[in-house]
Amino acid sequence: MVESGGMERGLGVDGILADRIRAELQRESVRRAPPNSFRPLPEIPGGRYTRQDFFDLEVEGVFRRSWLLAAHVSEFPEAGSYKRFERLLKAPIVIIRGRDGVIRAFYNTCRHRGAPVVKDAQGKCNIMRCQFHSWGYDFDGRLVNVPDEYEFPELDKSARGLLPLRCEVLKGVVFINEDLDAPPLADWMGSVADEWSATSMGDWTVDYRWSRVMNCNWKCVVDAFQEVYHINTVHPKTVGLALDHTSAAVGLMPNGHSRLCVSRNGAPPDPAEDIYVSTSVSHTLWPNLIGPRGNGNVKFIVVWPLAPGQCEIEVTGLGLPWGDGPLPPDRVAANLAFDAVLEEDMVNLQPIQASLDSTAFSGMMLGYQERRIYWAHEVIDEMIGRDRIPPGLAVEPRLAGALESEPGITLE
Ligand code: FES
Ligand SMILES: [Fe+2]
Repeated sequence: MVESGGMERGLGVDGILADRIRAELQRESVRRAPPNSFRPLPEIPGGRYTRQDFFDLEVEGVFRRSWLLAAHVSEFPEAGSYKRFERLLKAPIVIIRGRDGVIRAFYNTCRHRGAPVVKDAQGKCNIMRCQFHSWGYDFDGRLVNVPDEYEFPELDKSARGLLPLRCEVLKGVVFINEDLDAPPLADWMGSVADEWSATSMGDWTVDYRWSRVMNCNWKCVVDAFQEVYHINTVHPKTVGLALDHTSAAVGLMPNGHSRLCVSRNGAPPDPAEDIYVSTSVSHTLWPNLIGPRGNGNVKFIVVWPLAPGQCEIEVTGLGLPWGDGPLPPDRVAANLAFDAVLEEDMVNLQPIQASLDSTAFSGMMLGYQERRIYWAHEVIDEMIGRDRIPPGLAVEPRLAGALESEPGITLE
């Protein structure tokens, strides 16, 4: 585990960037055409959402090489606290806090004959003891106990520990990565790490969590949170009332990450106010995490691919610890209100997959405000390797020149 970041600098974005975002929000609200520098984006082939070969490439090239949200530090209160992680990665994993306080991740696969070394989904153990013949592993993965060890005259216990994966923590959020050569988490997150570091997220705790299987491609769900073009249609009585969909500032960042700031209806952002208070802000952390930020809380919407036409949406809420007893009613109500908006979003997603799977679908046409979706597709091809993309499914690189960076941001 590495506690990354640590830049406490108020807004999480510097004043120059905050001013640029405000200026973009103002420009966006009055423009009646995309910026002159914007060329219409090519259509996205539907096969990227339906084909097994493309799905397999995504799992190998993107998900098994990316930092993925796995847990929060509050779920590992003491040495020996562990949690299994079995989403997506074709491998069972256990995350456990060591005697030194460090949180580590290992494959939950005994080095004898492969049985799991922890059985429960979550708990606390004194040693990770295999469920089959009781080989015992310490919290740091070392093999420390083998019953009847004389039966294995060639066994070198020091070379037979649990196999590790990468595991790092940023502001209390535990990420894992199967790619042992991946860059450090904070480097990979880039400016999102700085923006997260301006919160007290590390002191928060999980206040609710649920998941649901959806019969649509994982990108259908992620795409739905990349733009606010849909909010008057899908959320007319909730988000559509609260936000001005014409005033949205998009920040595209390296490694597929992005930020969306949206003005509140009738309330242009006040320069004297924190931009994260005066606007609605959400980050997409590549590849599958959408993190809308609230005041003293954040929601993580994480989407896990299961099959080309199936995924699981997992929602985790983080907020201030509330002590013993049930979550206070106002927090329960806020979480229910958030879920109600998500329900509105989900109405369209499974029917969209039915269209993508049909012969009726000619390609996905994206407008200027939907360019975060295109950026995600570009990064998918880059991570898989453009020469490995099946014929007819590649997207043309277009937006790498429009990344948010000093001194300019986005397309103008
Ligand atoms: S498989 Fe783990 S001890 Fe045999
Ligand atoms: Fe929505």
